[in-house]
Amino acid sequence: MPKLTIDGQPLEVPPGTNLIEAARRIGIEIPHYCYHPALSIAGQCRLCVIDIEKVPRPQVACNTVVAEGMVVHTETERVLETRKSIMEFHLINHPLDCPVCDQAGECWLQIYYMKHGLYDPRMVDEKVHKPKAVPLGPHVMLDAERCILCSRCVRFCDEVTGTSELGIFHRGDRSEIGLFPGQELANKYSGNVVDICPVGALTDRDFRFQVRVWYLDTQKSICPGCARGCNIEVHVSRRRVHHAEGRRVVRLKPRFNEAVNKWWICDAGRYGSAFVDGDTRLQAPARRDGEKTLEVAWTEMIPLAAGRLRGYRADEIGILASPKLSNEDLFLLRR
Ligand code: SF4
Ligand code: SF4
Ligand code: FES
Repeated sequence: MPKLTIDGQPLEVPPGTNLIEAARRIGIEIPHYCYHPALSIAGQCRLCVIDIEKVPRPQVACNTVVAEGMVVHTETERVLETRKSIMEFHLINHPLDCPVCDQAGECWLQIYYMKHGLYDPRMVDEKVHKPKAVPLGPHVMLDAERCILCSRCVRFCDEVTGTSELGIFHRGDRSEIGLFPGQELANKYSGNVVDICPVGALTDRDFRFQVRVWYLDTQKSICPGCARGCNIEVHVSRRRVHHAEGRRVVRLKPRFNEAVNKWWICDAGRYGSAFVDGDTRLQAPARRDGEKTLEVAWTEMIPLAAGRLRGYRADEIGILASPKLSNEDLFLLRR
């Protein structure tokens, strides 16, 4: 395996590893927009520049693979200056409508501006305006002015779903993301483009304007939508109960699991959590009393059910389990 050093730290990584991933292994984050480990390399945003000794110009880390003896520097004066200029370039025509943008609080333009930008804006001309609040499909809304043209969404539709609904149209500062004629972003995994969009250009129609992300709490969970059991994060609104029409579960996000769902979840699972706060959901155990159904407290129901079950031998009891249950629940059922 090639041995190299990054910022003075020696490391050894498998051949073919790019410098963003190599640096990540030793806790160094090289800023990037267009790179995503699940997608092909676009080399489009240029934010991931680094210096390599004996190479005259800064190189992009996403499209440079490790080599034996490579000496990489991620924080030279020239790299820091280049990053700052690239941030300024990405933001030249940006509308900066963070106060009304759903991405605010989890936006990589905001995060990287604070870490790598902090320049005084020099743009005095009128910014280029583009379409705002354009529905691309049942779940995704586009604000073309906020797009930094990283092409992650385009590559996702080309390479992951294979549906190719999206493209980049026009040229230069008029370039914008859009649908091919007659297309709609309605594939079964369409919501994932919102997750991989690093800025507020693609937002979730279901979640828009419901609650600010900094009021959300996160719990790790498993999607109950089908037997695959995709790993998810449940984003819960408890601190602003008057937001999102009082819903507690306001959105589900995929949680990386290489063996199950990688970075993705399907739209059926993502948008299928309304039952959690649904009016028709059973809220408490119930017991039949003739024709009537009586609500019973858990403290009463559990001993009642246990008492009834004790009246049977173990081989007389059968339990129907759903494959939608988690492994932990299924394990407990077998005991
Ligand atoms: S995309 Fe980011 S920087 Fe742009 S308006 Fe939204 S939150 Fe602000
Ligand atoms: S919409 Fe988002 S993901 Fe797509 S190119 Fe623009 S910034 Fe990138
Ligand atoms: S992440 Fe390397 S050019 Fe965009």
